[in-house]
Amino acid sequence: MTPSARPPRADFLLVHAGQLLTLPGGPASRRGPAARDLGVIEDGAFACSDGRVIWAGSTDEASAFSGPDMRIVDAGGRLVMPGFVDPHTHPVFVGLREMEFALRASGATYQQIAEAGGGIASTVRTTRSASRAELAASLHDHLSDMLRFGTTTLEAKSGYSLDRDGEIESLELLAEAALNGPQTIVPTFLGPHAVPPEFEGRPDDFIAFMIDEVLPVVSSRKLAKYADIFCERNVFDPAQSARFLEAAMTAGLGVRIHADEFSAFGGAELAASLGAASADHLLMASDEGVAALAASDTTAVLLPATAFFLGLAFPDGRRFLDAGAAVALATDFNPGSCYCPSMPFVLSTAVCRCRFTVEEAIVAATANSAACLGLGGVKGTLQPGADADFTIWDLDDYRGIPYHLAAPDIVSVHCSSMPAWTKDDRSYPVQPARDRGRICMDESGWKAGR
Ligand code: NIG
Ligand code: FE
Repeated sequence: MTPSARPPRADFLLVHAGQLLTLPGGPASRRGPAARDLGVIEDGAFACSDGRVIWAGSTDEASAFSGPDMRIVDAGGRLVMPGFVDPHTHPVFVGLREMEFALRASGATYQQIAEAGGGIASTVRTTRSASRAELAASLHDHLSDMLRFGTTTLEAKSGYSLDRDGEIESLELLAEAALNGPQTIVPTFLGPHAVPPEFEGRPDDFIAFMIDEVLPVVSSRKLAKYADIFCERNVFDPAQSARFLEAAMTAGLGVRIHADEFSAFGGAELAASLGAASADHLLMASDEGVAALAASDTTAVLLPATAFFLGLAFPDGRRFLDAGAAVALATDFNPGSCYCPSMPFVLSTAVCRCRFTVEEAIVAATANSAACLGLGGVKGTLQPGADADFTIWDLDDYRGIPYHLAAPDIVSVHCSSMPAWTKDDRSYPVQPARDRGRICMDESGWKAGR
């Protein structure tokens, strides 16, 4: 849109972004050369109306948009880009696992700790015994941590209660957090995250319980957009995973899969064959699995900070990117395998250890992660039509994001054009979603689209 054709009601203008990253493209994931296109505008500007971008261009052109009642932010030559979209997190839990972390440092593996009764089971114990208020407070802290690292949209999974009421409560708390905080939260039902003690040795019965007793409530109350399962040796096999995910699809949910994390187990192939939105982890994915993903619409979500945290070999981004797959990056934030809320750290790891270019890492953490959550063109981009969720960095070049290893310098984070976090004011929440007029979740449940 040119300034002369503008709608009259621009109410916000950002000017003098030394580099403005617009992340051009449609709602679909970027692949090939498009997966490296940041759409950089030097001395960039954009105009918004009611929290949505209506024009982006150079500051020279922006004066046509200024008006008496509008808020104007001068970025002073700093880098401005879309907020990060983190497409895989587990933020609803109580209880940390520093002891296991230390045990791994002494040589124990993640699987050995799980087999000894630790791991996910240990967080299930602490989460089940927490009050709703404690769980809500812990979730609030986790979301707040993500926000200060520039995450404005996230996918968030249940999966630390593993019983009907607890799983429902986790999803209710995500809905409440989405209403009361500034971030957009895409809820995922991960009931089959592990087999709980009351179903020990009976994974098929547990899957049946999830399908018959919990999924109908999740679906009828629209508490989740997606369902997910931990498809892994000694957890849930591909047949059990397919049974659960097909039931979820029949109930109207999209599906995602924890796939091929510790062993090549057919998870990537299953995800592609089901038309899943994503297959996540994929450290051990087979060549056939990679080819199946590349030929499908399923996004490969890579989680390099998990490999870092567990001391595993890093996922090879080139294996997926060069095969032509849609690739996204996520934190996997959780108390056991990756206690890391920072997308900037994920980008550094992707570039330094997973053979992503800087540009590919940024696309994978914005436009592509939005696309795999069904929010392509709305989140992770600053093109006209997108929600004005953006970060201002104390950097003059986007390459500084992964380069500033573990020390990101974010000046402010904005959701729907309103400041949600600033370096000088660390309060949260600033802008409840209920006041934004456009939310993904309300009292009647998850809303597809806007
Ligand atoms: O994605 N792999 C399964 N689930 C989580 C870990 C959960 C935990 O250890 O608490 C993951 O890595
Ligand atoms: Fe995970």
